[in-house]
Amino acid sequence: MPVAIITGASKGLGRAFAEALAARGWDLVVDARDAEVLQGTATALEAYGARVTALPGDVTDAGHRAALVAGARLLGGVDLLVSNASALGAEPLVRLAELPLDGLRRALEVNVVAALGLVREALPSLRAAPAGAVLTVSSDAAAEAYETWGGYGASKAALDQLAAVLGAEEPGLRVWAVDPGDMATDLYAAAVPDDDDPRPDPVSVVPALLRLLDERPASGRYGAPALLEER
Ligand SMILES: NC(=O)c1ccc[n+]([C@@H]2O[C@H](COP(=O)([O-])OP(=O)(O)OC[C@H]3O[C@@H](n4cnc5c(N)ncnc54)[C@H](OP(=O)(O)O)[C@@H]3O)[C@@H](O)[C@H]2O)c1
Repeated sequence: MPVAIITGASKGLGRAFAEALAARGWDLVVDARDAEVLQGTATALEAYGARVTALPGDVTDAGHRAALVAGARLLGGVDLLVSNASALGAEPLVRLAELPLDGLRRALEVNVVAALGLVREALPSLRAAPAGAVLTVSSDAAAEAYETWGGYGASKAALDQLAAVLGAEEPGLRVWAVDPGDMATDLYAAAVPDDDDPRPDPVSVVPALLRLLDERPASGRYGAPALLEER
């Protein structure tokens, strides 16, 4: 069975994608900082028949990243690495004039440095996999100048560039950066608590991610709405 590592898989998009992969027969290594919520998700994933290794921890911890990859190797290897866990840098978001520099550092550590650390840890296994792939979760804030989204958006832009260069450097892999679009999740609520407009359920984005796995398009940056529409 193919094996995926998905960071930040206890809830939101990460959990929705993990459930879809479990339903397709994938085995999973998942993490999040809250061990109790993560265990609840792991139990739900196991109900699909998946072998699940759930490791509570913070992606900024190098030892934790090594444990994620070691856990995947025990399941058979790393076929897919999904960098989904994310930090906003300030909750709620604030304008750059008020953004604490430590908040920006945290966003960069979680969204960029940890993502590269995990890629580096997993690369030998990804290269050995029959169809190795890396999927980084981006945001339209990486490309658009939305007020208050500057720190987070800068970190996602950096993550996009890492993914783009990794795709060029590793032609044997697929490296996809995906902008999922707005979703009704705890992250969005923390970012903009006063925004009551309805947002799509993260489950609605999952078919876009599955399409990448099914069709294996060239490495690059993709938007979920386009992946969902152009069938
Ligand atoms: N929601 C949106 O509108 C939206 C739009 C564009 C892009 N995105 C992106 O979509 C991805 C998923 O976000 P979401 O909206 O689904 O958020 P979410 O529901 O809040 O889920 C975030 C997940 O990441 C985990 N996490 C956060 N920080 C972590 C860390 N340092 N180490 C390990 N796990 C960590 C969380 O669990 P713990 O808190 O227990 O660690 C949780 O499992 C993110 O990359 C986000 O930037 C979201």
